Amino acid sequence: MCAQTPQELEGFLQQCQLRVNAVLEKKFDIEYPSSNLKQAMTYAALGGGKRIRPALVYGSVLAVGGELAAGDAAACAVELIHSYSLVHDDLPSMDDDDLRRGRPTVHTAFNEATAILVGDALQSMAFEILSTAETVAPDKALEMIQQLSLAAGASGMVGGQYLDFEAVGTQPTLAELEILYSLKTGALIRTSALLGGLSYPQTSPKQLEALKAYATQLGLAFQIQDDILDETSDTETLGKPQGSDRELNKPTYVSLLGVDGAQEKATELVKNAIKALDEFSEAADTLRNLAAFIVSRAH
Ligand code: IPE
Ligand code: IPE
Ligand code: MG
Ligand code: MG
Ligand code: MG
Repeated sequence: MCAQTPQELEGFLQQCQLRVNAVLEKKFDIEYPSSNLKQAMTYAALGGGKRIRPALVYGSVLAVGGELAAGDAAACAVELIHSYSLVHDDLPSMDDDDLRRGRPTVHTAFNEATAILVGDALQSMAFEILSTAETVAPDKALEMIQQLSLAAGASGMVGGQYLDFEAVGTQPTLAELEILYSLKTGALIRTSALLGGLSYPQTSPKQLEALKAYATQLGLAFQIQDDILDETSDTETLGKPQGSDRELNKPTYVSLLGVDGAQEKATELVKNAIKALDEFSEAADTLRNLAAFIVSRAH
């Protein structure tokens, strides 16, 4: 089950996708006041995506000695927050992108009002799932809800997205860009690993700290790789418009350091991320391989 080699990681990622999709499908089986709303929510949350954040939840559960099932609620919750953030990120008033996960964005396939409301509904669903998770003790569930709300809100993802929007056309310092990235992308990635650790009752505070340290480095590396791919890949491979950052005049690690400099930085961050797992046995090999994959991925 644990991905000991880079080859096994591919199978693990597929397993995570199938698993979180199956759990999410059940969660989407509720009564909707409008069939269009159901269609749009399903389109946004169940239509593809790498499911990296659920994989981080599950990888962290494995690292602390738990079974995958323990991470189901957390995996759904982080993916729902992520999917919502993408729907809003693509809106005309934000990045104004028309392609996501290889298909028209929600506001393109439906309309803008639908995209706004779908994002809102997915966010609510994430917290509802954590608050009703049967496998999680109430005190742990409360802590997970607190951590995820902090990571999603003004002091996390939304705060980072706001800085991203304010940074358009400016030349921030590397230190400023690092803060922006650690919020807009890092907060949710860090919290995915943390929620994975919290999903298993025996996880020690020291293990939680190590998981956080690992995923803090990884979150930054993840966004840097996203910037690199925006510059070097193509729209078909990415399933989203290549060159969007350049077109919008966004400051990125690539615009500040060039592709090679950005790559160097991401590689160094991944090395540090893996180092943060030194206290863990081979049960954390999945997380180690996942870190290496983050900067070698092609989309
Ligand atoms: C894209 O995230 C947005 C960023 C935070 C960089 P992913 O690359 O994980 O997107 P999906 O979920 O695979 O579509
Ligand atoms: C988005 O960053 C981060 C989010 C919080 C959604 P990007 O704007 O670079 O993500 P993509 O490239 O559109 O996926
Ligand atoms: Mg954006
Ligand atoms: Mg974008
Ligand atoms: Mg991007």
